[in-house]
Amino acid sequence: MQKRKAAYPIQDLLLNRWSPRAMSGESITDEQLMTLFEAARWAPSSYNGQPWRFIYAKRDTPHWQKLFDLMVPFNQGWAKTAAVLVVIASRDSFTLNNKPARTHSFDTGSAWENLALQGFADGLVVHGMEGFDYEKSKKMLNIPEGYTVEAMCAIGKPGKKESLPPELQQREFPSDRNPIQSFVFEGEFKE
Ligand SMILES: Cc1cc2nc3c(=O)[nH]c(=O)nc-3n(C[C@H](O)[C@H](O)[C@H](O)COP(=O)(O)O)c2cc1C
Repeated sequence: MQKRKAAYPIQDLLLNRWSPRAMSGESITDEQLMTLFEAARWAPSSYNGQPWRFIYAKRDTPHWQKLFDLMVPFNQGWAKTAAVLVVIASRDSFTLNNKPARTHSFDTGSAWENLALQGFADGLVVHGMEGFDYEKSKKMLNIPEGYTVEAMCAIGKPGKKESLPPELQQREFPSDRNPIQSFVFEGEFKE
């Protein structure tokens, strides 16, 4: 397996964070979990609006099944060994004046990445998901009008790769990225 290589020197945490699927099924402490939300808390946002919302369920609690049932079977297959499942939503308008917050999803993306980076630094698995029922999540979790459901994530302790089905074992390594020139343009957009 090839190790990730940065074209320019960046912080190790940014380069090395990745999204494993193998988790051990062990629980994590509330301290560990809240540390991740604390990391999310310090993300930047337009007007410091902080539109992110996190709804979580810990394994072995009555909430777990509700969040578990939202996921598509593929994600249920590996996320069943997570310690915590999280639905990430964002407020569409500013709390202060109810005006539309254009960048609410962008801001919440920053908060999610803070959480993911902190989790990786703490030796946890944090794996984002879009494979779940967005509409059902609003109903099941009482998410009011005026909020957008953005994504889910599974959080847990790392597990053995061998615990995954063979087809997922083959995908259990850090992926590469497109080169900078393909997404960075000087002056104007280029196809
Ligand atoms: C918002 C979001 C949604 C994702 N949805 C899924 C998903 O439903 N199922 C899954 O197995 N992985 C999912 N992923 C994981 C991505 O495939 C993974 O982050 C991407 O391939 C880059 O790999 P890395 O995170 O290991 O660097 C998702 C990631 C993000 C950020």
